[in-house]
Amino acid sequence: MNRNFVFQDDQELHRLTVQNRLLREYELPVLRRILSGKSDVRILDIGCNDGHKTVNLFSDFPGVQVIGLEYLEDLAARAVCLHGNDHFTFCRCDVEERDFAQILTDVMKTRKIEAFDVIYLSFVLMHLANPQKLLVILQQFLAEDGRVVIVEPSDRTSRLVPDEEDLLGTFLEILSSDPLAGNRTCGYDLPKLLASSGYQDIIIEQEAISCKPEELAKKQDIFETFFSYLPQDLDILCEQNPENPQYKEWKTWMDLHYETLKQSVCQKNAKISMGLLIVSCTRR
Ligand SMILES: C[S@@+](CC[C@H](N)C(=O)[O-])C[C@H]1O[C@@H](n2cnc3c(N)ncnc32)[C@H](O)[C@@H]1O
Repeated sequence: MNRNFVFQDDQELHRLTVQNRLLREYELPVLRRILSGKSDVRILDIGCNDGHKTVNLFSDFPGVQVIGLEYLEDLAARAVCLHGNDHFTFCRCDVEERDFAQILTDVMKTRKIEAFDVIYLSFVLMHLANPQKLLVILQQFLAEDGRVVIVEPSDRTSRLVPDEEDLLGTFLEILSSDPLAGNRTCGYDLPKLLASSGYQDIIIEQEAISCKPEELAKKQDIFETFFSYLPQDLDILCEQNPENPQYKEWKTWMDLHYETLKQSVCQKNAKISMGLLIVSCTRR
């Protein structure tokens, strides 16, 4: 089972907008540092959804040329329609397709791009059957001094205090078994995966998203980003598998505890830290 059919759901698109707002303060400094002093920068954004984040993150770089690849046809079409221009090219493309390397080579030729200064993947590897296969292929498209920048969740290191009933622990346990949620420890395993895929100079740029007790709006964004989709997944799973006792049990727990968990995360004296890795590296 995969999550593809929810990637274009309105609730998920709203969640991604909040997520992008939340992550911008962490991602932008990394990208600015990597691209500092460069002009005519060339970016590949894999799994770019409707292009909203792509444009939001990369518009300000000088002379930027961006290629965004998206698996779902409707989202790719929306990206072309809303954001396509001389600087931003969006294409429908499955990066797990056998002829992916050839398809990308052809797109690059039409845009006169020889290699990329940044290859960016945000919450995409976690949904792939074989992330290492893609990482190995991508090396040939990275400029000699270019960097791959990857953002992935790492739930194992998430913390909430106070949380006397360990609501976060139970939530993350259910999430780790949710067949729609992808690999939630993808970030945790990423440095090793990159090293074994032949990448070098692997830098962990960020390990968690946290906030000060008084940052209440940020707490709301953290809740929306990291918690809001699991009840939706459970509704879908129960609807599709009405006889499955495990899904029913999870949904009952969620119905009982979701609002309390929300209050625990968003309350004034809560300390919340959600595991999320931003990693950058060079090719061999
Ligand atoms: C969780 S969303 C993240 C979207 C965006 N990168 C962001 O961070 O807001 C994952 C995106 O990757 C796309 N995707 C998943 N598998 C893909 C594949 N094999 N090839 C290209 N895109 C894919 C999905 O359709 C979806 O738009």
